[in-house]
Amino acid sequence: MIQSATDHSMIHPDGDGDSHDQGAGQRFVHVRVLRQDAPGQESYWERHAVPYEANMNVISVLQRIAALARAEDGRQVPPVAWDCNCLEEVCGSCTMLVNGRTRMACTALVDKLLVENPEEIELRPMSKFPVVRDLVVDRSRLFRALERVKAWVPVDGSYDQGPGPRISPEDQEDAYPLSTCMSCGCCLEACPQYTKIEVVRREGEGEEEFAARRKAAFDHGFIGAHAISQAVLFNGHPTGKMIADERLQSLTAIGGIQMCGNAQNCVAVCPKHIPLTRSIARAGRAATVWAIRKIFDR
Ligand code: SF4
Ligand code: SF4
Ligand code: FES
Repeated sequence: MIQSATDHSMIHPDGDGDSHDQGAGQRFVHVRVLRQDAPGQESYWERHAVPYEANMNVISVLQRIAALARAEDGRQVPPVAWDCNCLEEVCGSCTMLVNGRTRMACTALVDKLLVENPEEIELRPMSKFPVVRDLVVDRSRLFRALERVKAWVPVDGSYDQGPGPRISPEDQEDAYPLSTCMSCGCCLEACPQYTKIEVVRREGEGEEEFAARRKAAFDHGFIGAHAISQAVLFNGHPTGKMIADERLQSLTAIGGIQMCGNAQNCVAVCPKHIPLTRSIARAGRAATVWAIRKIFDR
C-alpha cells in the first residue's frame, strides 16, 4: 500500500521505531531521490516508499523503486536510473551521495542508514560530474585523468616476453593498496580543488570537435587524487617506470599536483582506504626532483 508522504508514523525495523509504518503493520523505507531527466535539465526531488526488508542495501531499494515505478504519492513515474555492476565494492560504478555522504550504494546498508536517520534515506548523484540521468553521472573526466598519467604498464605486443622483473614482497605490499583503486570518484567528489566541468555540445558541432573541446577542458582541470596515486603505483613498477618521466610531466602540467591544497578530504572518503595523502606526498617529492633535474639537463 502506498500512501502520501505526510501520512506516516514510525516504527523501527526491529520493532522499536526506526523505519516507517504506512498502515496494517507494513513497514516502509522512505527514500528521497534527486532526479534529473536528461543532461543539463533542472533536477527535482521525488519521494518513494518501499516495503521494508531486513538486510537491504541502497541498490536493492533502487531495484524495488524501479519495480514499483510509482512515487510515494501514487503517481506513476519513470523508474529511477542508477549505475551498478559488481555489488561488492569492486567495480566503482555505484557511487552516489547517500544521506549527503559520497559512498558506494552497494555497501550502504539500509538498516545502518535508518539508525543514522530514521526519517528517510536521501539519494543524490555525485555533484562533481555531469548528470546523465537521475543518479547516473558521466565520469569521463576521471578516466581521462588516468590517460593523462598513463596509468598502465606499456607493452609492445601480445607475444610471450618471458617473466617480468621480480618485485620484492615489501614492494608488493607497498603497491597493493594503490592497486585496489576502483575509479569510483569518491575522492574527487570530496576534494575542494576538484570542481565540476560540464561541456555542452554546441549546435552543429561535430563529434570529433566536441570530443577535442571536452578533452581540453578536462585537461585544464585538477587531475585528482586517484590519478596521482596511480602515477605513483606505475612509477614504482619495474616495467611501468620506463615512462616515469612522462607521468611526472603530466603530474606537473596544468591541473597537476600543484593544485592539491592538501585538505585530505580524499583520504577520508576513499572506500578502499588507499593512503592517498602518502601518494600525493610521494608524487610531490618525485615531481620536484624531476623538475630540478630537468633544469640541469638543459
Ligand atoms: S589532499 Fe589534495 S587531492 Fe586530496 S582532497 Fe585535498 S586537495 Fe583534493
Ligand atoms: S582513490 Fe579511492 S576514492 Fe579515489 S577513485 Fe580510487 S578507490 Fe575511489
Ligand atoms: S556495484 Fe560495484 S562498487 Fe558498487
